[in-house]
Amino acid sequence: MATVPKLERSYPQHSPSLRELDDVELLRMGALAPLLGFEGEGGEVTLAVPIKLVEWAIDAGGLEIVDPEGVPLAVLSIEETYPITADLVGASGPIRPLPGTIRRAFSNLYVSPSQTRGALDAATLTVPVDAPLTNSDLADIRSRANGGPVLLVVLAGNGSPRELSPHGLIRATLAAARDLDNAKVVAIPVAARRVPTLDQDFRQHVVRSYAPGEDILWPLSLGEVSAAVSAVIEHDRPTGSDQGLVVFFTGLSGSGKSTISQAFRDTLLEQGVRTVSLLDGDLVRRNLSAGLTFSREDRETNIERIGWVAAEIARHGGLAICSPIAPFDRTRKIARHMAEEVGAVFVLVHLATPLAECERRDRKGLYAKARRGEIEQFTGISSPYEIPADAEVDIDTTGRSVDDVLTVVLDFLTEQGLLPRGIEHHVELTIGSPS
Ligand code: ADX
Repeated sequence: MATVPKLERSYPQHSPSLRELDDVELLRMGALAPLLGFEGEGGEVTLAVPIKLVEWAIDAGGLEIVDPEGVPLAVLSIEETYPITADLVGASGPIRPLPGTIRRAFSNLYVSPSQTRGALDAATLTVPVDAPLTNSDLADIRSRANGGPVLLVVLAGNGSPRELSPHGLIRATLAAARDLDNAKVVAIPVAARRVPTLDQDFRQHVVRSYAPGEDILWPLSLGEVSAAVSAVIEHDRPTGSDQGLVVFFTGLSGSGKSTISQAFRDTLLEQGVRTVSLLDGDLVRRNLSAGLTFSREDRETNIERIGWVAAEIARHGGLAICSPIAPFDRTRKIARHMAEEVGAVFVLVHLATPLAECERRDRKGLYAKARRGEIEQFTGISSPYEIPADAEVDIDTTGRSVDDVLTVVLDFLTEQGLLPRGIEHHVELTIGSPS
């Protein structure tokens, strides 16, 4: 039997930031009522769209919002736009939810406000949770609920859980709920606002839409947590040498990045203290970033890729050593942010070897070529290097042995508790000598 194909319009697709995606979810579930879409300039619930998509979306009658895996979640009817940057405009207008669902851990706990209110009676005490509940929080909840039902609302959106991943906070809350008599747990994708002072109002608004009754208790998060909660925290955010770590070397070509980072890796492998991945500048450009040029844009893409991979390694408690030039402050900060977002420590090591010394070493003969104009946009010669103001370690390698420089790095990491004490290393090469 012939079926009549459904008439589907096709809209340009846009995968927004994690904060915006959480807002889409809240809008889809009616958790921001009476708001039905993205607000205009100066609003709290806003959406930034690449300029090149906007006209197309207006012509097509909508912009399809998809999650990072490409699942369509909603169609935005653009009513107004306003400028943000050279590449981005804000787009406001109502959204029409589509049936697609975001896949994530504990997705069965992400229910709508109406489902939540419908399942619980008005005597329920609602408790918003953005950090693991402590024993004293639990005592407060017990005394206020007085035997009645409790709804624990985990604020699991981007940037909301304090010190834990969203799934970690949900697990910690489920563990704490077992110590209460009559508690239910739901999760809501309420993301931290770009302007942190707006957080509390926004959260209150969303939490109120979930609360079956009037009684809402905001926990103080003071004091100790139970053994069960503590076990969840330790698993989610290991500390010391079990914590994910990104050691990011930056500096001019010839400043010693590859030599030091290789010696660092070899020392760790010899000692067997941590697993390690080395994302060396030249190596990355031969595989992960093959085909990229040395334009500002491509260098930024290169560093964002390195930062992304490093964060994935560190997410599982691994150690990523990165050693690209990374001449731009903005992208170094993006790499730092990506690592910190997954609970890893990011250590920026600036090899502050002066240009004259790098050029004197010129192991690859590139400075000579750059001076002759045979290589364009060469860092330090015809392309800028922005000196970091946020480096944890700053070393000029001039006249210093590899062993000496490596000791500075190892000592710093050991002091921070990121490496076990007593690492021995024997590297006899001198920077600049042929290897
Ligand atoms: S970055 O700027 O994008 O961080 P990256 O570390 O990947 O640079 O690559 C730098 C390496 O590429 C240098 O060590 C050098 O061997 C080589 N290279 C080739 N052309 C250039 C250039 N124009 N500027 C800097 N390095 C270059």
